[in-house]
Amino acid sequence: MKKVLVTGGAGFIGSNFVYYWLERYPEDRVICVDALTYAGNLSTLEKALQNPQFRFYKTDICDREAIYEIFRKEMPDAVVNFAAESHVDRSIDAPEIFLKTNVLGTQVLLDASRAFGVKRYHQVSTDEVYGDLPLDRPDLFFTESTPIHTSSPYSASKASADLLVLAYHRTYGLPVTVSRCSNNYGPYHFPEKLIPLMIVNCLHDKPLPVYGEGLNVRDWLYVTDHCKAIDRILCDGRVGEVYNVGGHNEMRNIDIVRLICQKLSKPESLITYVADRKGHDMRYAIDPAKISEELGWKPETSFAEGIEKTVSWYLENRSWWEPIISGEYRSYYEKMYGKA
Ligand code: NAD
Ligand code: DAU
Repeated sequence: MKKVLVTGGAGFIGSNFVYYWLERYPEDRVICVDALTYAGNLSTLEKALQNPQFRFYKTDICDREAIYEIFRKEMPDAVVNFAAESHVDRSIDAPEIFLKTNVLGTQVLLDASRAFGVKRYHQVSTDEVYGDLPLDRPDLFFTESTPIHTSSPYSASKASADLLVLAYHRTYGLPVTVSRCSNNYGPYHFPEKLIPLMIVNCLHDKPLPVYGEGLNVRDWLYVTDHCKAIDRILCDGRVGEVYNVGGHNEMRNIDIVRLICQKLSKPESLITYVADRKGHDMRYAIDPAKISEELGWKPETSFAEGIEKTVSWYLENRSWWEPIISGEYRSYYEKMYGKA
């Protein structure tokens, strides 16, 4: 039996990972640490909270004392760090919290992992650390040796954290791994990101805000495939290594938005072109050869299947996203569980 400490487990990918791990390894204990920022929602973990193998701590990863206390009590074998400020637009508006959580919070987790002899520390990073690729060079892809070249305060903070994680391996011998994944989509995706925002706005017949001309390209991966990739890396990845994760599924934003209109039988006249994001990355595209050849990972869910499942999930789970839209969810934790 293993004890896996998952940070950011009340967010989009972290919660999918919690459910994935509890199902895949029912003997393991999963300890979730999440500060429940605007992006974390405890109702997402409602089913997990009923599982005796699961434990939740409402804690900020920057709070060294509290984090050390959790490590002392739980003695995790592995740490998977999803906790982060993750929205590029918010980082352009207010960068400071990104540096605090994404860099300094990571440092606290690394120090705790050293102090308590964690056997594996995994950092969940992003393809955005590589910057972007030009639209007229479809032959180019990000590999693990592509230079770090960030565009936004968000990606700069994630790249800084990656460097720190790798430095802890080189300097202190901490057994770390890093994954850099492309855009995820699926259940529990916070409705300020492209795909859930478009679904929710369509359902309310509200304008669909497309930045610039909508020609930017992202490489979309169904969230469970990302969870499986992290599982492979945790089990068999080589320490000190970076693994790129992506699905060879490049799509222009405008085509995604049109597809969502079509799936929900809404008119494309809802599409509204708005001012472009500052420093907007043009194209992301991952070369997943390393994880595929070394660890046998490959995406299992096609985009056609994944987007169908995702749209259906939002149709069937209004009770999850409606309180988020209304802001009501912010009082959920206190209402349901009192003060932490
Ligand atoms: P998210 O914003 O949905 O979730 C982040 C979670 O972290 C939330 O539950 C939030 O409450 C928690 N959190 C934030 N600050 C915290 C703090 N100081 N202490 C403890 N918890 C804190 O993000 P996501 O989309 O699920 O992304 C998870 C991770 O994966 C991030 O590190 C992100 O950089 C990375 N990533 C995301 C994508 C994507 O497409 N969403 C792709 C590649 C990598
Ligand atoms: O590539 C991985 C990254 O993917 C992760 O590291 C980030 O945490 C995650 O948020 C995501 O970043 P993006 O900026 O690519 O995702 P977002 O959903 O914010 O935007 C996707 C694309 O859609 C991007 O080109 C901007 C555009 N967009 C976004 C929104 C919210 C719009 O055109 N309109 C919108 O309203």
